[in-house]
Amino acid sequence: MAVKRIKEGIYWVGAIDWDRVLFDELVTLPEGTSYNAYLVLGNKKTALIDTVEPYKKEELFKNLEELEVEKIDYIISNHAEQDHSGAIPYVLERFPEAKVITNKKCKEMLIDLLELPEDKIEVIEEGQELSLGNKTLKFFMAPWVHWPETMFTWLKEDRILFTCDFLGSHIATSELFDTTDENRAKVYLETKRYYAEIMMPFRNFIKKHLNLIDALKPEIIAPSHGVVIKDVEFITGAYKRWVSDQVKPMVIIPFVSMHESTRHMVDFLTSELAKEEIIVRPYNLIKADIGNVAMDLVDAAAVVIASPTVLAGAHPSVISFAYLMNGLRPKTKFISVIGSYGWNGKVMVNHIQNTLKNVKAQWLEPLLVKGLPKKEDYRKLKAFAKELSAKVKEASIST
Ligand code: FEO
Repeated sequence: MAVKRIKEGIYWVGAIDWDRVLFDELVTLPEGTSYNAYLVLGNKKTALIDTVEPYKKEELFKNLEELEVEKIDYIISNHAEQDHSGAIPYVLERFPEAKVITNKKCKEMLIDLLELPEDKIEVIEEGQELSLGNKTLKFFMAPWVHWPETMFTWLKEDRILFTCDFLGSHIATSELFDTTDENRAKVYLETKRYYAEIMMPFRNFIKKHLNLIDALKPEIIAPSHGVVIKDVEFITGAYKRWVSDQVKPMVIIPFVSMHESTRHMVDFLTSELAKEEIIVRPYNLIKADIGNVAMDLVDAAAVVIASPTVLAGAHPSVISFAYLMNGLRPKTKFISVIGSYGWNGKVMVNHIQNTLKNVKAQWLEPLLVKGLPKKEDYRKLKAFAKELSAKVKEASIST
């Protein structure tokens, strides 16, 4: 993808990964992704803000050639993860006079991950400024969006905040900005998916970073994935809702069923909750895009995990989901387990509960059925649906 001009002297020079399907071999990318590197041309110095995946370095170099860049003074590294830092060694090879500018923690990680020579890196402190002549960069530490070393770079004169992963989205697009009707809905959805899969465990840190952004009042936010954001309030407003304690009257039911018994329970519970005007999302974990489940974990009031008992525990796909949920630490208020067993259902419940130790939701009494659910089991499921929907409604109003 060719160079894109953001403002006078400020260019997108990154790379688009149109058909990448997984990130970190974990996160699904239905819209591909981009690695956004930015070039800032001051009248005295030139800075490159972040780079690209190493296998995309030729696209970066082609863009720099298009702009006839002969000298880079500074390579700003906001984040050491290789999708942004991985091409730094190659940039240093081509522009040997460049210095890498980053914070102390990121410096250590760049040395560990890329074997960068220590004397090529200059450490900056919180709030420090770096003059490019008529343009000034200022640095703010922003830990845990996404690793502990992450920081923001603020371009003072143009009021652009370069946030690296934060407020980004995995979208491959030829469009630079978020401003068309066509991409607005996609940007919202993919930004939410990105938050759900990458940022959700750090929501308490994120609240502070959103306060900083409110204070800076940027005109443009330039993240390292997806589109450049002009409608800053649209995205920060969405983020504020996601990181808040507020939940929606929604129950998600991630499930696996081997011989339909658990499935009958899930179908009945789904129907009963819907009658109570609760938003219900059953997800068959054998088929579901885990990114979609993660997106609902952002604001669902309750999660009911449904599993058969197999191999003296829960189904492995259920445990895989529970492990992920435990890591994402959603703000879910209520959680429970339902399922069918042949001779011992408690081991399945214990297995799930032991996998979810980090989730601070209130546990509701599990509901287990031997074999197929019978009349009495359906009566219990109906009562459970009534109890759960009342709790979910109350939690949704009071948060
Ligand atoms: Fe886009 Fe945490 O790297």
